[in-house]
Amino acid sequence: MTSNEIKWLVEGYVAGTVPDYQMSAFAMAVYFKGMTTREISDLTMNMVKTGQEFDLSAINGIKVDKHSTGGVGDKVTLILAPLVASFGVPVAKMSGRGLGHTGGTIDKLESIKGYQVERSQEDFIRQVQDIGVSVIGQSDQLVKADKLLYALRDVTATVDTIPLIASSVMSKKIAAGADAILLDVTVGEGAFMKTVDEARELAQTMVDLGKAVGRKTVAVITDMSQPLGRAIGNRLEILEALEILQGQGRQDTTHFICELAQIMLGLADIEKTVEEIRKHLENGQALAKFEEMVAAQGGDLEDLYRPVNVAHVVDILAQESGVISALPAMEFGLYAMRLGAGRAVKSDDLDYETGIVFEKKVGDSVQKGEIVAKVYTNGKISSELVTEFQKYVKMNDRVQCLREIIEIIS
Ligand code: URA
Repeated sequence: MTSNEIKWLVEGYVAGTVPDYQMSAFAMAVYFKGMTTREISDLTMNMVKTGQEFDLSAINGIKVDKHSTGGVGDKVTLILAPLVASFGVPVAKMSGRGLGHTGGTIDKLESIKGYQVERSQEDFIRQVQDIGVSVIGQSDQLVKADKLLYALRDVTATVDTIPLIASSVMSKKIAAGADAILLDVTVGEGAFMKTVDEARELAQTMVDLGKAVGRKTVAVITDMSQPLGRAIGNRLEILEALEILQGQGRQDTTHFICELAQIMLGLADIEKTVEEIRKHLENGQALAKFEEMVAAQGGDLEDLYRPVNVAHVVDILAQESGVISALPAMEFGLYAMRLGAGRAVKSDDLDYETGIVFEKKVGDSVQKGEIVAKVYTNGKISSELVTEFQKYVKMNDRVQCLREIIEIIS
């Protein structure tokens, strides 16, 4: 397609002169045929122009943003944003909601009583000027073409194609106005990209798009074959984030987030070791920043530390002794969704309290009868529910992945 044809298509779609059925045909053509680098760039930049572009120049310093292509139990932003801000680097971040097996940061933050995710551009900028960090929901005014096109892709099975994912993610990141962007490209069972080769291609495409418009952009390819950290579920993930922010999280998850923070700080020209970064978790500086952000956005700090409130907590016991070899992220994401922690369709209501907490992860040894996980539910507990969970836990097979960061692309 020529640049003019792409411009006509995007503008016409937002104006309503290009109907959904023609746009679906376009999405399907891209799905099967792909796009050239120039076409992806034209699509992205024309999408940017279909909405408000945030101007963060009133905030001093190099503003860094972060985006994940989707995961299960992915509470990284909740920790990373205040952690990076605790080093004086401003973080102005817009996040999304979850759908299907993937969770959304905004849903997790909304599980905190009072936390406001909708802010005007002025309030968002003022908060970052005042305390250095804000995480809000994506403005309705940002990249209108993506809002329409993503919904259409969702119902026409054309989400998982690199040109459309890259233009969707990067149009929003470019419009959001940060100077530097860290992209977390997830790979594995629970991610859109199933192989490292595909993830590398998506990562490189997005890095090139960012750089072409003068944004420092780095992508990390990260493992999403098993859920991230211990918890899946909105409130449960807030509680795990608090544990990590207090330096008491799982070592592997904590180390991974410190590595991401090191890259984000590097994008803002601040060189720190992982150990120096971890200190901000152990000495409470990152936690203080998180609490400051929650309070600034109307969140109730007492409610923040409240334990989950569910009707039943069910222990899932190991069926045999040995080593856990796989905890398939997609299956557990969908399982948590059925407990009420996620949405099957956009209009579904969430139960913020429900979900899963893993006591063991891939690579851990267990004895028969030991607790592998706890299921938090407000629904009926049937033995089928327990058996189904146990069926997903793979034991004594080839261990799937033990590296969180698989590759860095810059
Ligand atoms: N995340 C997005 O924002 N867009 C996509 O197309 C896929 C994941």
